[in-house]
Amino acid sequence: MNLERDFHMATGEAEANYANNSRLQRKALLKTKPLLDKAVRQVYTALQPPTMVVADLGCSVGTNTLLFVSEVISTVAYAQYQNELGRHPMELQFFLNDLPGNDFNQVFQSLQQFTKSIAEDHPKEIALSPFYISGLPGSFYTRIFPCQSVHLFHSSYCLHWQSQVRISMMIKDMDESMANLNGGNIYITKSTPPSVVKLYQDQFQKDMALFLKLRHQELMPGGKMLLTFLGRKKQDVLDGDMSHLFGLLAEALQSLVTEGVVEKGKLESFNIPMYGASIDEVKAVVALNELFDMDHIELFESNWDPYDDLEHDDMCSSPQRGVNVAKCIRAVLEPLLVSHFGEYILDELFKRYAHLMDRHLAKENTTKFSVIVLALNRRDFADIFVSLTILPLFNQLTVAITVESQ
Ligand SMILES: C[S@@+](CC[C@H](N)C(=O)[O-])C[C@H]1O[C@@H](n2cnc3c(N)ncnc32)[C@H](O)[C@@H]1O
Repeated sequence: MNLERDFHMATGEAEANYANNSRLQRKALLKTKPLLDKAVRQVYTALQPPTMVVADLGCSVGTNTLLFVSEVISTVAYAQYQNELGRHPMELQFFLNDLPGNDFNQVFQSLQQFTKSIAEDHPKEIALSPFYISGLPGSFYTRIFPCQSVHLFHSSYCLHWQSQVRISMMIKDMDESMANLNGGNIYITKSTPPSVVKLYQDQFQKDMALFLKLRHQELMPGGKMLLTFLGRKKQDVLDGDMSHLFGLLAEALQSLVTEGVVEKGKLESFNIPMYGASIDEVKAVVALNELFDMDHIELFESNWDPYDDLEHDDMCSSPQRGVNVAKCIRAVLEPLLVSHFGEYILDELFKRYAHLMDRHLAKENTTKFSVIVLALNRRDFADIFVSLTILPLFNQLTVAITVESQ
């Protein structure tokens, strides 16, 4: 499998596919709706384009991306109705982006029904803007739009995926004898050596910096981005939420190795190409990059069990919890696991994972994903010029004046 080309979420059987097992990701879209509304209104009132160009990066399959599209259409429609956006009738152009292996046809086939239902969902007096939806295959770690052609970028539950999709290969490249450096772990855990942690962290910094640089080129001056992705609440990189979640999956894989179902070498060469950054790590890349102003950043938590909507640390007692988490993780990782281990391990692996998860959830009540939401405003070159040249000069001048006056 060429992962940059063919990587995708699980398709196929309804029981296990992403479209039917993405309630966790849907909850994030609902949670970030007020920020999306704000971004849409800001972009339109500031820029007043005849056509607003909006892109959802990492759209995947299922109805989540269409929920995003419907929120943008609705926000614009109500704002136009309330005359907040001036008198310009505007049109909307949406680009749904994902890697080429994504089943775009599945999304396209639901568009007719979507167009019908969004019209029915709005009262007659709320006129919807004409909208156009296109698919855009390609990695968001490459240029995917012409210069200054997009007003708003959105991406939800994607940016924790690393560009290389091959941390395992990078570990191998360090030295053949170091291929098993992560010692049977599949992500960063307490026993992960610093060299492997550094690989993950360096890759995160490179990816995020590249992503910001590319989107800065593609955004119109005054454009915005709303990015939601998995992160880490604690500063300690060895003790992240994903460390525990994937630690249990590694345990299930290890049990298959012990029974001779999976080769030890196969497990040792598998590392999940995701990274959960802390808020400070994200802020540091944005600040270093100097291409965007941070409008908003926050971290919220979401229970591992996608069907557990309880806030705080109340224990949910559903007997399905382990199975629910296992289905959610399987829908995301299945194609990656199949390409590395083969399809034959899947059912047994996730049966064991659900069991281990059940046991874990019965003991622990801090079993939550940390989700980072980041709203960024594109800086214009004039702003960048000021921050790179005038401000440092001004600072020097202030220092000189201070020294002089002493
Ligand atoms: C968990 S899904 C999220 C889908 C959707 N945004 C949602 O909220 O349900 C993550 C998506 O990111 C896509 N993805 C990962 N890396 C990507 C990349 N470099 N470029 C484009 N899409 C990518 C995956 O193919 C997958 O469809």
